[in-house]
Amino acid sequence: MSAGVKKLDVAVTEITEINSLVKRFRFESPNGHALPTFSGGSHVVVEMHDGDIVRRNPYSLMSSPLETASYTISVRRDDEGRGGSLFMHNRVKVGDRMTISTPVNLFGLDLRARKHLLLAGGIGITPFIAQMAQLQASGAAFELHYSSRSAALSSYADVLQATYGDRVSLYRDDQDQMIDLKGLLSGQPLGTHVYVCGPEGMINAVRQAAEQAGWSDHAVHFEHFLAPPTGKPFQVHLERSGITIEVSAQQSLLEAIEAAGVDAPFLCRGGACGQCETAIVSCDGTLEHNDHWLSDEERAAGSKIMPCVSRFDGSTLTLDR
Ligand code: FES
Repeated sequence: MSAGVKKLDVAVTEITEINSLVKRFRFESPNGHALPTFSGGSHVVVEMHDGDIVRRNPYSLMSSPLETASYTISVRRDDEGRGGSLFMHNRVKVGDRMTISTPVNLFGLDLRARKHLLLAGGIGITPFIAQMAQLQASGAAFELHYSSRSAALSSYADVLQATYGDRVSLYRDDQDQMIDLKGLLSGQPLGTHVYVCGPEGMINAVRQAAEQAGWSDHAVHFEHFLAPPTGKPFQVHLERSGITIEVSAQQSLLEAIEAAGVDAPFLCRGGACGQCETAIVSCDGTLEHNDHWLSDEERAAGSKIMPCVSRFDGSTLTLDR
């Protein structure tokens, strides 16, 4: 799958419709063995073979890290996306065999924290479900504030409230309920860490509010994966491999590199981890940087690109790959 990320063969043993947008998938080892251990906040990359196209999408593990007989993920359907979520919703059946990566954690809990303040938006709830199971088992202090568009789309809210009681607070957009970030962040005991996973606007708002309230960076954690955007097709030359590849409208540059049989590193596939950073040899056109990794200076220099999410519009782009 990539240097440093191993593959696992799994069987799909359960698919559950959670609401009109979200389905939950359970994976187990086909031979009944336990799956590799993981910690709350981990994700796996799910490989989807759709004709000639291979898509690889990251999904947070939401099952308890204390229980590795199976993994569960939730997939929110994106009708405007590149097709990965639609493939999972419409094509995957119970009994199918799939390939996933071993778990990688880029959103781990800081176990030195005296309290964990978890802020979720929409499908961003999933890593917290695993983390809360881990925190509960260790007796750690935590609370969850979970915002969603409506009660009907508030995936897993009922079971979380039933399990964790008043440590769970729910907010619904359609009832004009909003998390009071200022009040919440200013009223926490010393040693609290805050974690946020959700839409980009929510992550930015929490980071800004934490900065204004004087929180230090090391106590603010966020999961900022992006779905690779679609865009105009483009051509790229891979200098070390000596080949020129086409990147289609629905494909990421990373997927096109992989489809050409060239190994390329990755961890998050969402523009957040830095693992896929690739040097640009020459560029005649516009780089469409969509990542959260490169600094403004690096973007201005035009010497690097993150192929998991970024694209190109122009006549020639040559990469050191
Ligand atoms: S794989 Fe993480 S930034 Fe590209």
